[in-house]
Parts: sequence; C-alpha cells; structure tokens
Amino acid sequence: MTRPFQVIYDTDPGVDDAMALYYALAHPDIEVLGITTTFGNVRVEQAAANALYLSALAGQGHIPVTQGVATPLHKASEAPPASIHGADGLGNLPNRVAFDNRLDPRSSAQFIVDMARARPGKITLVAVGPLGNLAAALRLEPRLPQLIRKVILMGGTVLEPGNVSPVAEANIWNDPHSADLVFGAGWKLTMVGLDVTHQVILPVALFRKIAAQQRHCATDTLLHAVNFYADFYSGLYPHVATVHGCFGHDVLAFIYLTNPEFFVCESGRMRVAVDGLAQGQTMLRRKPINYPQAGWDDNVPEVHACMEVQAEACKQVLEHTLMAPWLNTGAPSGQSHEL
Ligand code: BDR
Ligand code: CA
Repeated sequence: MTRPFQVIYDTDPGVDDAMALYYALAHPDIEVLGITTTFGNVRVEQAAANALYLSALAGQGHIPVTQGVATPLHKASEAPPASIHGADGLGNLPNRVAFDNRLDPRSSAQFIVDMARARPGKITLVAVGPLGNLAAALRLEPRLPQLIRKVILMGGTVLEPGNVSPVAEANIWNDPHSADLVFGAGWKLTMVGLDVTHQVILPVALFRKIAAQQRHCATDTLLHAVNFYADFYSGLYPHVATVHGCFGHDVLAFIYLTNPEFFVCESGRMRVAVDGLAQGQTMLRRKPINYPQAGWDDNVPEVHACMEVQAEACKQVLEHTLMAPWLNTGAPSGQSHEL
C-alpha cells in the first residue's frame, strides 16, 4: 500500500541526519524513495558511505543511495566539522560491519529529477544539508518546482542567533549561493530552521531507552553517535548540558512533515546573504513593504518559515515512532550489537 508521504531524503550524515533517517524509516506514513547525499558534515564520499551503512544496518539496503555535490557552488570549501559529528560523521564508530549495498550510479541531482519526472506532484524533498543537490537538480530540470509536491528543509534562521556566525546557520552558510537559488525557485517550501530546532533538546537518555527497547545494532549505532554529538552540544550550551543532550535539527524536518500542527509558520520572501560578514544569513521579508533595496520585489516567491514549535510534542512523537517495532529484532545475521 502506498504511504502518504513519498520522500527523497537529501542529507549529509551526520548524527542528527542519522536520527532523522531512522525516524523516517520507522514512521508508518513515510516511504523513503531514495537517499541523496551531499558534502557538509563530512566529505560527500563519507556521507554516501554513511547513508549506505545506516540504511543497510536498519535492513533497508534496497533504498537507492546516490552521491551528490562535493563542494559549494561558488565559495571555497570548509573543512568538515569533525568535533561535532566525528571524523566519520557518526561519532567515530569503533568498527563497522560489512554490507554489500552499492551506490546508485546517478548523481543526486539526476536521481531527484528522474524520480520527480516519474512521479509528478507526488514527492516531498526533505533536505537537511547544504543545498547544492537541489540547486543542481533545478539546473537539470527547470520545471522541477512544478514536479515536486513540496520541499521541507532544515537550515537557516530568522530570529534565533546563528550557529556558525551571529546570523548564519551551518547548512545555508556551507553553500549560500545554492540556498538562495533554492529559496527563490518557486516551489512550495517550508524552512525548519534554528528558530525551532534550538527549542527541541533531545537527551541521550531517550536514545538509550530506544536502544534498550529495540536491541538492534542500528539503535546501538545511533546511541553511540548521539552520545558523541551530545558531548559537543553540552560543552557549548549549559542548558543542553543539564540533560546531556543535543538539538533535534534534522529530525524536525521530518516531524514537520508528519505533524505540521506542532509548528507555527510565517510566510514571506526569503533571500540569502551570499558573501561578506553576513554570509549565509537567511533574511525573511515578513511584511509586504516596497523596500528601496533591490532583490525584494514581487518576483521573489513566498516561502514558509517555522517560527514556533511544541517541543514536548515533538519529543513524544520521536520517542513513540522509534520505540515502535520498526526493526527486525536481533542484529542482522552474524553481526554484533557491540560497538
Ligand atoms: C545543521 O547542520 C548540521 O551540522 C546538522 O546536520 C544540521 O543539518 C544544523 O545547523
Ligand atoms: Ca544535516
């Protein structure tokens, strides 16, 4: 039976990306049609390897995984943030079991275009990394905004301070030119940014509880990764340290998909500062004012930005979804739970 939400997941795994993937795989209303990877939290080769690994570990090795853009569209690349996600993107796993699932040979952009043409109006793009794959897909197929049902992206911020500068969020800052193209493409788009993701603090204890309930190497791997990630965030924010936790970031994009009623959004025209001190800033024209500054005219399409969230409800739906039996019990044959 077709599930209500057919999704292509564009991602740079990444600990919270892994959390989000497992939420999507566990949720009965979501069908993950493919995982398109990009540079970001790690180099793109590592992102692709992690997507293959995480999906195989969860018994979903049949899901197509593609490798996408390796660098930003115009700006110089930055070194991946190993202190946040680990050098391997998954909290420096001590070992990995072997799987034989392989990359789909298409680029991430080509995969997005092929799938959108095959299922016009059906697919939601959930994008939780820098936005180069979406920008490349728009170049391949300018009609993409008419073929895609909706874009939900984790990135940016309107009022909350940024996490790479006082005004910029990491995914947008990593490739601001692509982000500006994506916001301006004219599709139905909702931004799930730091305004809401900084309100949802997930304690490591939640993932320990899930791992104890599910007893599977996928949930053990997630627990290991979240523990590393929480050490980083707890070192940075005292209120996060009190629960030894981390921000929900990427998983909030999927929770918005399944439970939009938990969020309050505002609409407006979004632009991105592509260079200078404010590079990566997402600026929302919230009021219909005719500004003298060019770039804010009515040709800039309207998008939505999440501004408020019911944090407790998000935590509950995450817990409920990952505690339900979505994995085959026991590790895949011959593999250990121990990491
Ligand atoms: C975003 O940046 C990455 O570190 C996370 O995976 C998330 O997508 C948060 O700013
Ligand atoms: Ca991410």
